[in-house]
Amino acid sequence: METQLNSIKTAVYIVGAGPGDPDLLTVKAQKLLSTADVILFADALVPEQILNLCRQDAEIIPSADKTLEEIVALMLERVRSHKSIVRLHSGDPSLYSAVHEQMQMLAEANIPFEVVPGISAFQAAAAKLKVELTVPGLVQTIILTRISGRTEVPPTEELASLAAHQASLCLYLSARHVENAQTKLSEHYSDETPVAICFRLGWPDEKIRVVPLKQMAECTHQENLIRTTLYVISPALLPTNGRSHLYNPEYQHLFRA
Ligand SMILES: C[S@@+](CC[C@H](N)C(=O)[O-])C[C@H]1O[C@@H](n2cnc3c(N)ncnc32)[C@H](O)[C@@H]1O
Repeated sequence: METQLNSIKTAVYIVGAGPGDPDLLTVKAQKLLSTADVILFADALVPEQILNLCRQDAEIIPSADKTLEEIVALMLERVRSHKSIVRLHSGDPSLYSAVHEQMQMLAEANIPFEVVPGISAFQAAAAKLKVELTVPGLVQTIILTRISGRTEVPPTEELASLAAHQASLCLYLSARHVENAQTKLSEHYSDETPVAICFRLGWPDEKIRVVPLKQMAECTHQENLIRTTLYVISPALLPTNGRSHLYNPEYQHLFRA
């Protein structure tokens, strides 16, 4: 079996689906989706509109109700039948996608795989909001994080301590704990700091609200947001005059004397 699998170049593609809008898939993701025999997709997070690109006869398997062991066993079985497999995750697979352990199990089973990046929710949010999250003189750091829930965040990454940087902070997976998040953020950001509450970016029922930090929890409850919500807390959401050196006429660099 091992020799048989080693002779296959790539058997499984772990693909980032982006935030939900099919137009935001990479070209590589589109190609893979339109040719794959089997698509295993995180149905709780990837909208069905993405699957319109798949072959009519492709086998489409939702994964939300499966354990990691079941998912990998399915992959192994399909690889043995010489099927091409796309494992579709929301956004970019490098964050909050539970791919680490999946890749480990694939490697242990000698299944060759490749990872195809996707657009993460924070990038889709910045585009929708028409903001740059790094504005010179204002903010130069982006923090991607979450609050502790059933998955604990290590104490060294505690939200209040990250808030102390007053960076552009993108908060994933935290709508269920929004009061706690607001309290911790308020230790360092002013109550008037803008917060963009972004629900299902790129889905047909997308909702975006921008409110001061002091209304973050209240607005989340009013809109009844529990899942698939990203918060962007950033001074860059305010109108600002900051300007970078790169295209400044008074600044010289390698490509402009
Ligand atoms: C399991 S994580 C997956 C993150 C994903 N890998 C990414 O790069 O965006 C799910 C969380 O990501 C955020 N998220 C993912 N897709 C989103 C979308 N379309 N709109 C708003 N938030 C989204 C939300 O915070 C959600 O709770």
